[in-house]
Amino acid sequence: MKLNNGIIIPPIGFGTWKLKNNDETVEIIKEAIGCGYRHIDTAFAYGNEETIGKGIKASNINRKELFITGKLWNDDRGYENIINACKRTIKNLNCEYLDLYLIHWPASKAVHDDWIEINNETWKAFEYLYEQGLVKAIGVCNFKVNQLEELIKVAKIKPMVNQIEFHIGAYNKDILDFCYKNDILVEAWSPLGSGKLFKVDELKDMALKYNVSVAQLCIKWCLQNNTLPLPKSKNIERIKNNLDVFDFEITKDDMDYLNNFRDVGNSGLDSETITLFN
Ligand SMILES: NC(=O)c1ccc[n+]([C@@H]2O[C@H](COP(=O)([O-])OP(=O)(O)OC[C@H]3O[C@@H](n4cnc5c(N)ncnc54)[C@H](OP(=O)(O)O)[C@@H]3O)[C@@H](O)[C@H]2O)c1
Repeated sequence: MKLNNGIIIPPIGFGTWKLKNNDETVEIIKEAIGCGYRHIDTAFAYGNEETIGKGIKASNINRKELFITGKLWNDDRGYENIINACKRTIKNLNCEYLDLYLIHWPASKAVHDDWIEINNETWKAFEYLYEQGLVKAIGVCNFKVNQLEELIKVAKIKPMVNQIEFHIGAYNKDILDFCYKNDILVEAWSPLGSGKLFKVDELKDMALKYNVSVAQLCIKWCLQNNTLPLPKSKNIERIKNNLDVFDFEITKDDMDYLNNFRDVGNSGLDSETITLFN
């Protein structure tokens, strides 16, 4: 896949939320890279940047072959803080630069009357980081259409990515269409519904029909919707399985059926109304 600034991005990223700070995680990252992942999705808020950095180092891979994403946490907003937070993430991951830096959450309307100004100021700092070459691409997470519209009005550099909750049962068509029209790549977080999709009988039946696992069906569905899935697993067999999705195709009828699937596995997080962390 290609970002709107011409940067190539590997089409499946390895999710790292909930991986613990221990030797097991170092091994998991090393194994994931060993079996072919070239794209790692991290965030300061996951509290495991240094451990992931150790896993990357242990893999002995050339830095240039990897695509590493970091995310700015809400507590680090403010122009100078953002620049320092980005440098801290690069240091924690021991990776020289980030391939992609994302705003983890927009300022919520429910908490901040000046949410537009906050997001705009954050973006200005992101543009600076990009221009300085500390990050090769910049983007956002969890932005809804009106939040993106406000940002694009003032942006010198258009976001390259919007990482949103996107899985069977959480289709988010309005954001998908808006991003497609504006050449913003949608990355799919929780492509397996954080594990909740494995209990759904209709998906088990369809996976059987294609002779694949439910995880493979879910990941392929993301890809066929032109989104970039970020599956997470700590089990080596499942890690391999999640990457092995390129020798089958979901039919148009089945895609239509899955795009209209009932609401399932949703986190319920809404970036406009959230008050939990902002
Ligand atoms: N930007 C944001 O706000 C945001 C929010 C949430 C997530 N994310 C990103 O998206 C990534 C993925 O989301 P997620 O971690 O919520 O969940 P997910 O990838 O949708 O699902 C992970 C769950 O599925 C299980 N699993 C994975 N592969 C499997 C397979 N082949 N067969 C059976 N079970 C399997 C995992 O268990 P095991 O580990 O035991 O295999 C885990 O319980 C995160 O790690 C993070 O990088 C971003």
